[in-house]
Amino acid sequence: MKKVITYGTFDVLHIGHINLLRRAKEFGDKLYVGISSDQFNTIKHKQSILDFENRKAVVESIRYVDYVFKEENWEQKQNDIEKYGIDVFIMGNDWYGQFDYLKSQCEVIYLSRTPDISTTFLKGRAKKI
Ligand code: CTP
Repeated sequence: MKKVITYGTFDVLHIGHINLLRRAKEFGDKLYVGISSDQFNTIKHKQSILDFENRKAVVESIRYVDYVFKEENWEQKQNDIEKYGIDVFIMGNDWYGQFDYLKSQCEVIYLSRTPDISTTFLKGRAKKI
């Protein structure tokens, strides 16, 4: 059983999120997804439209996702990898190199982002409508 993990805010779900989750699942049998808590978003200077419970409910309903948990700080990844017995850690390549310190615990892979879409872009568009 190969286990894959990824993290994100996943606010206002879009095709970039779906592509990332679908491709991540292809690296193993089970996909674990850490979703930023509202407090952690504040630390990251991010303000989500949907609160944690809403974002969690949406991501949990995606067919590629097996288990969703809360990400509350930058430091918990090493502990999560250990706790869930993770084999592969995946992030979009906007994070390229930033999680290489996890390579002592599991494989670390950065996937190319889907072009021309992001939650920030959608929020900007929504303001103009
Ligand atoms: N992602 C992606 N392609 C996109 C947008 C996001 O592959 N076009 C990936 C990110 O690289 C990350 C995951 O989806 O691994 C969750 O990203 P998140 O920050 O929640 O989404 P963004 O749309 O990038 O949000 P924001 O604009 O607020 O940064």
